[in-house]
Amino acid sequence: MDRPGPRAAALERGGLGLDSRILSVFQAKAVGASVSMQGKLSLALVLAALTTAGALAASTVPSLRALRWLPAGVDLTDALGRTPTECLSAAPDAQTAYRVELGRAAFRSPLLLGGQAARAGLACESCHREGRSNPDFQFPGVSGPPGTADVTSSLFSSHRGDGIDNPKPIPDLSGPASALKVSRAPDGRALETFIHGLVTDEFDGAEPPPAVLDGLAAYVRALSPAACPPQPTRAAKAADLVEDARRAARAGLMALDHDDPAAAIAMVQAARGRLGLVFERYDGPGLAPQRAALTAADRDLAAVLVQLRARDPRAAGQLRAWLENSDPWARDLVAAEPRSLFAPSRLAALRTVAR
Ligand code: HEC
Repeated sequence: MDRPGPRAAALERGGLGLDSRILSVFQAKAVGASVSMQGKLSLALVLAALTTAGALAASTVPSLRALRWLPAGVDLTDALGRTPTECLSAAPDAQTAYRVELGRAAFRSPLLLGGQAARAGLACESCHREGRSNPDFQFPGVSGPPGTADVTSSLFSSHRGDGIDNPKPIPDLSGPASALKVSRAPDGRALETFIHGLVTDEFDGAEPPPAVLDGLAAYVRALSPAACPPQPTRAAKAADLVEDARRAARAGLMALDHDDPAAAIAMVQAARGRLGLVFERYDGPGLAPQRAALTAADRDLAAVLVQLRARDPRAAGQLRAWLENSDPWARDLVAAEPRSLFAPSRLAALRTVAR
């Protein structure tokens, strides 16, 4: 995490977590189909193939990342315009709250996963939306029917890479414990072992800082059906993604209080990932000021990352300043939201362009 691989570094330099090598949805599907015909490859390999194709593709379709894993014909006003609600229990104490916040941000960060998954923009939350499931998820070469993915063959199988294509339904991590396979009991650390395998083996990720791995398990343990809000979904809003970014930045400050710069770096990267998801939605006429403000906010976080890597003690102050200065541009985003790709009317129009 501390020293990102060349791919992760390239992604960071790209700013806003956006890959300059925009991937066409159609091309992604074509490559995925040819890969899956050759049998099951590792997820990392499939993603590598996809992103190489992306290097050659120039897309006219707005580059909303989630379009890469939404099947043709899905209702985009629903799949992109609404989001599940999160079932997160209140933490019993400050130390647990810290761990849960680290995990919550990492769960939403593509850079937690390896270079290729990161490049495709995939995070835990792409499959487990807001800690739940994703009935629309369909990634070429990785999924069977929508809502499935093959992520465990190399974890549970003693004959890894044996050509078995075995997509499973994406479980609702906030569902009843009886429906879940991996024990949440803290003592056995089965959850930590499982998540570690997902990150480092299946998704080709670098070894996460120990506090981040711990946090991911703490976050998953804090998801519970008892904490689900009455409404299962809500409208997708810029303000919520911005709040995710701020929460990640606050978790970064807490990590610095815990003298854990590696975890702080992961948090700032997570914040940038959320800003990237906002940025791609402000694509359209009259939205240049909002894009410029987001680019500036992202550049400030990139500067904090440089300071964190250099162990520059001014990093905490800069990150705090970033938080304090985030209100005006966040308010402006909300005001411009009806013109953005958060607006159901624009999503409906996108559907006719993209399909
Ligand atoms: C490509 C989609 C995808 C991504 C990305 C993904 N998962 Fe999953 N996850 C799945 C699927 C599918 C299963 C079910 C596997 C099975 O049934 O064998 C699963 C299972 C799990 C489980 C076990 C649930 C149980 O039954 O107890 C946990 C915990 C989990 N994922 C957490 C994570 C975390 C944390 C990340 C990010 C590091 C992540 N997942 C990323 C698709 C995904």
